[in-house]
Amino acid sequence: MKNIIETLLNRTSIRRYERQAIEPEKKELIYRAISNSPTSYNGQQYSVIAVEEQKLKEQIYALTGQKQIKTCALFLIFCSDYHKIEIAAENNEWVLPPFQHTLDGILVGVIDATIAMCNARIMSESMGLGCCCIGYIRTAAPRELSEMLHLPKGVAIVCGLAIGYPREQPDSRPKQERSLIIHNNRYSTDNMESKMAQYDRTIGLYNHSHSIGTTDKNWSKHMTEYYREGMTYHTLGYYNEQGYGVTEENEM
Ligand SMILES: Cc1cc2nc3c(=O)[nH]c(=O)nc-3n(C[C@H](O)[C@H](O)[C@H](O)COP(=O)(O)O)c2cc1C
Repeated sequence: MKNIIETLLNRTSIRRYERQAIEPEKKELIYRAISNSPTSYNGQQYSVIAVEEQKLKEQIYALTGQKQIKTCALFLIFCSDYHKIEIAAENNEWVLPPFQHTLDGILVGVIDATIAMCNARIMSESMGLGCCCIGYIRTAAPRELSEMLHLPKGVAIVCGLAIGYPREQPDSRPKQERSLIIHNNRYSTDNMESKMAQYDRTIGLYNHSHSIGTTDKNWSKHMTEYYREGMTYHTLGYYNEQGYGVTEENEM
């Protein structure tokens, strides 16, 4: 077991894995870490599909183009989930307010699922496993995937997590300087322009000197291209079809 400081400070995303199964005791600890996640109001507005079947992993890879999904030992799909509370409320004949149709309702499910994913990640990495979050699971073909995974209404994909024994140990990617991320007491825009310009140069140099760097694209250019691609995603339509959709404002 790595200690928590090493686990959190030396982590990087791992995209290449050994062909080695994850021991049942380790899987058990990952699942316990997920189940013990804090959630809004202890509502547990999330659920996880654990994919180990190789054929299914390959089908998901075919839809998303993310190779990590077929080569990892375990692929976890974290979902926002209001189906469970619907069942419980129906059992009791409670009339459930349309909270899942509010922006805050959507955020609650997404935050619960994301915290559970982080706990799975930290537990996995502390046991020597490598992980990669896969957002493409939500954006590439969410409708086909939801059908494939039999997701009922009220359940929608948030993010995937590929887990396996690492076959690579990439260098850490440089992150923004501390004052751009952590603000003391109040948000500060002091020297933000020059700090961001410096970060752009740092990432450009990093990309240039690493294998991902057939490109020396700076960070803001890279992000602009990513957001342009993001404009083609139809996540709101997908969430609507899964029984969500921001149609209600919370009552005052
Ligand atoms: C929500 C989320 C979604 C992500 N989706 C993908 C993905 O679909 N494919 C991928 O290769 N990496 C994905 N990543 C990994 C990021 O690219 C990675 O965290 C980032 O480049 C920083 O590198 P590091 O994790 O090594 O520090 C995702 C990360 C997060 C947090």
